[in-house]
Amino acid sequence: MELGGTEAEALAKAHGTPFYLYDLDAAFAHLAALRTSLPDVVDLFYCVKANGNRKVLEAFRSRVAGLDLSSAGELDMAVAAGYDPKHMSIAGPGKTHEDLARCVDGGVGIISVESVAELGRLGKVARERGKVQDVTLRINPIQTPKEFAMRMGGGASQFGVPEEEAEAALDAVLAEPGVRLVGLHIYAGTQCLEESAIVENMLGSLAIVLRLAEQKKLSLEVVNLGGGFGIPYFSGQAAVDTPALGRALGAKLEEWRMANPRFSATRFIFELGRFLIGRYGTYVARVTEIKETRGKRYVILDGGMHHCFPATGNFGSMVKKNYPVRNLSRGGADTEVESEANAPQEICGPLCTPMDSMARAVRIARAEPGDLVGFFASGAYSFAASPLLFLSHDTPVELVKLGADVAVARERMPATRFW
Ligand SMILES: Cc1ncc(COP(=O)(O)O)c(C=O)c1O
Repeated sequence: MELGGTEAEALAKAHGTPFYLYDLDAAFAHLAALRTSLPDVVDLFYCVKANGNRKVLEAFRSRVAGLDLSSAGELDMAVAAGYDPKHMSIAGPGKTHEDLARCVDGGVGIISVESVAELGRLGKVARERGKVQDVTLRINPIQTPKEFAMRMGGGASQFGVPEEEAEAALDAVLAEPGVRLVGLHIYAGTQCLEESAIVENMLGSLAIVLRLAEQKKLSLEVVNLGGGFGIPYFSGQAAVDTPALGRALGAKLEEWRMANPRFSATRFIFELGRFLIGRYGTYVARVTEIKETRGKRYVILDGGMHHCFPATGNFGSMVKKNYPVRNLSRGGADTEVESEANAPQEICGPLCTPMDSMARAVRIARAEPGDLVGFFASGAYSFAASPLLFLSHDTPVELVKLGADVAVARERMPATRFW
């Protein structure tokens, strides 16, 4: 699955550096393994914010049941990529009147309401248009398992309605003529690598859903269970066993449905981003210069944090750890085992900030100018979450591998393109 040196060099010759390569064959094989291990009542939604590249979106279209959106801009991109807005759900705090109007006008299937104030804005937009918009209410649960490395729920946050206020919020939704409640939505956190914690989180969400549905006598068409399935980024982390996870979730969900016939016609959504694309992207940059100074060896690349920000350790991590990184041009010495051939090196980008540190004291094969360095696990929140305009370098070209073809998925752009 990992990009080899010969292929990387051929791509670099053809397209220049830096570049991203998304291996969609591998991504789709993984998606199929997940899909087939889950029951039919589950719909898998692709989360656009993880990687909204148009070719990536287009390629996922026939393979997922719908999309999770986070902005009206993503709605436009998804429509351009051929998706039907009916099969989209949008979430996010602070949706403005204009965002909501674009979603209602655009026919988005579900708007996930995150507060009573937002409900007021949405109700007004829909009523003004003589429409009734389908909604879920997003609930911020009291507890989220600690194994979720990034938590949106389980404490105070801007996301959703606190579980303890959910009943009152549901009353408000049910009383608003501009909307129709079709379900509940709980997205508690992400980047969880423990199968048992993912199952526990789902069961915790289902318990909240059951309590509220019984209290309010709701028959729900949809329960959006979030997801938060993680991928390994750092040494010592292991990938989730995908078929085993799917089977474990499916078994518990079916057991719960049997015990609760109120939900026999309900569809259950998992909205996944990094799990579907994160492991299948590689960012590749070329070594421009080596600088040995004050006991350290700096490997300076032609790309860096402006293209692949999470590798710096500043995106959702408390402690800066190295992403999986290799000297693609020189195999062999990329190992944690110490030797002279892989003495620690500092990998950095060309920006004038100490933040542009892409790997620290990393044991990869001793790099020389011209070598290609690859950062793996860079398919999600990488291009999409990078400060591309910072210091006005060109953007990296994005390539997509599908079958025998590698195609340009987004061309390299100069900073002046954004003027
Ligand atoms: C509401 C919601 N859904 C889905 C996701 C996707 O998360 P991930 O890419 O970790 O699967 C996020 C991530 O922040 C989110 O906030």
